[in-house]
Amino acid sequence: MTNKVRAAVFPVAGRGTRFLPATKASPKEMLPIVDKPLIQYAVEEAIDAGATKLVFVTGSSKRAIEDHFDSDPELERALAAAGKDKLLESIRSIVPDGVTCIYIRQGEPLGLGHAVLCARAAVGDEPFFVHLADDLIAAETPCLTQMVAEHDRHGGSVIAVETVPPEDTSSYGIVAVDDASRITQIVEKPAPDKAPSHSAVVGRYLLAPEIFEKLETIGRGAGGEIQLTDGIADLLDESPVYAYSFSGRRFDCGSKLGYLMATVAYGLSHPDTGEAFRAQLRNVIDD
Ligand code: G1P
Repeated sequence: MTNKVRAAVFPVAGRGTRFLPATKASPKEMLPIVDKPLIQYAVEEAIDAGATKLVFVTGSSKRAIEDHFDSDPELERALAAAGKDKLLESIRSIVPDGVTCIYIRQGEPLGLGHAVLCARAAVGDEPFFVHLADDLIAAETPCLTQMVAEHDRHGGSVIAVETVPPEDTSSYGIVAVDDASRITQIVEKPAPDKAPSHSAVVGRYLLAPEIFEKLETIGRGAGGEIQLTDGIADLLDESPVYAYSFSGRRFDCGSKLGYLMATVAYGLSHPDTGEAFRAQLRNVIDD
C-alpha cells in the first residue's frame, strides 16, 4: 500500500434543498463564489494536495458538474478567435493533464457513508480524501495539503475539526480525542447535552481504505442514513484516526448565511474585484 494519496472522493449527490429554487435544476455544487463554482474550489484543493483521480459520486440533475470538468472545444475556439487568452486559459486549466475524472451514480440517497462506499472500486486499496464542497476553507496552505503533512507525520486517518458553539453540536459529527489528538469517540449530530466535546468534524477527511469494510456492515444510523461517522467509529479500535485543527477560515456554504459570507470574503480578496468591492460594499451597508 502506498502512502501517497491519489484519489479524492466528492459526494455531490445531495439535492441542496436549502438553496431552492436556485438548486431546482442546477447542482448546489455549481453555485459560484465570485467566478468559480464551489466544486471547482474543491477540485483545486484536492489537486494541490496531490490527487490525480477525482471521483464524483453524483445523482440526478448533476450533469452540469460533468460538463464543467469536460473540455469545451467550441467555447475554446470562440475565445481563441476573440483573443481572450486569459479566459481561455481559465477554462482550459480546470482539470490539468494527468488528472482523471470518474463519475459514479449514487442510485439512492442513503447517506454520506453510502456515497463514500459507492466510490470503493474507483479508489481501490489506498488512502483517499473525502471532500465536502459545501465546506469552503480559505487558507494560506489549502486544508487537504495541511492534512497530508499531518498524515506524513504519523500515518493513520486524519479528519479536519474545528470548535463550534455548544448549541451547534447537532449539526456535525463530534469527536473526543486523547492527548495525542487520536480520536477516541465520534458521534453523528449529538444533542448538546449528549456531545462528548465541541470539536466538530468539517468536510475534509483523509481515510485509510479499511473504512470501506466498515461502511459495508454498519447499517443505517442517524436520520436513517448510512453515516460516514459510524464507519469511522468502527475503525477507531483497529486503526488510528487523528483529529486535525486546520489553520484557515471555514465557510458553511450549505447555509445561505455562510454562502453570503464566503462571497464577501472571496470578493474582497479577489484580484479583479477586491478594491472596488470594498468601496462599494461600504455604500451598500451604509444605505
Ligand atoms: C456531514 C457529516 C458530519 C460532518 C459534516 C461537515 O454532515 O455527516 O459528520 O460534521 O458533514 O460538514 P452534513 O453536513 O452532510 O449533514
